[in-house]
Amino acid sequence: ENDLLKKLPLRGKKFLITAGPTYEAIDPVRFIGNHSSGKMGYAIAEAAANLGAEVTLISGPVSLTLEDDFVKIIRITSAEEMFVAAHQHFNQSDVAILSAAVADYRPSEVASEKIKKKEENFTLQLTKTKDILASLGDIKESQFLVGFALETENEEENAKRKLEKKNLDLIVLNSLRDKGAGFGTNTNKITLIGRDNKTHNFPVKTKKEVAIDILEYIIKQTNA
Ligand code: CTP
Ligand code: CA
Repeated sequence: ENDLLKKLPLRGKKFLITAGPTYEAIDPVRFIGNHSSGKMGYAIAEAAANLGAEVTLISGPVSLTLEDDFVKIIRITSAEEMFVAAHQHFNQSDVAILSAAVADYRPSEVASEKIKKKEENFTLQLTKTKDILASLGDIKESQFLVGFALETENEEENAKRKLEKKNLDLIVLNSLRDKGAGFGTNTNKITLIGRDNKTHNFPVKTKKEVAIDILEYIIKQTNA
């Protein structure tokens, strides 16, 4: 076998990755969204492809472009669309990494016409979206399932609870406390927590470096 190919540790592995925000329509011209840039998920998709993986990236609305032709990109807008796309691809995947900042709530009804300004106060009723990650945890067979957690208090405790509750193999805790971490930045400070409940702390790094740290953990676990 070719020596160069042996150096691609993820060759033949199928990755499903979600990234970016979702937009939940209020009416034809308005939506509820969030500040997720998608950079973390895109960095993981590119790094996995560079290591030989076949990558499907389900992306919410972001202003990023992919440099890698080996990533198949599926563009969606809403949490419901991301749910459908993720379920279409999960069965064929070896590893699923859900880094998207999915809206937890959507408007209960989408107005068919632009809502007119009337009274002084306006109440919008919201309904929970489906938890994509938890739904994949429910049907998981041999897939290695990775989730993210964004916490502002009791960080590790909450992340461990999410790992258990959503039946994950790994959770990536994103720390918002440190400078240069989180939304919009090019850097992140993460803690990895696996099924063994062991925590691995990393210093602030670029999202590209963080992507490699996450993939290295996955490679070690799935080849063990
Ligand atoms: N997630 C998802 N579908 C949703 C909500 C969240 O797939 N409808 C995924 C995210 O992509 C992330 C993980 O669940 O990998 C955790 O997201 P987070 O917002 O930290 O946790 P929640 O379970 O939504 O709980 P809360 O926001 O109340 O902390
Ligand atoms: Ca949430």
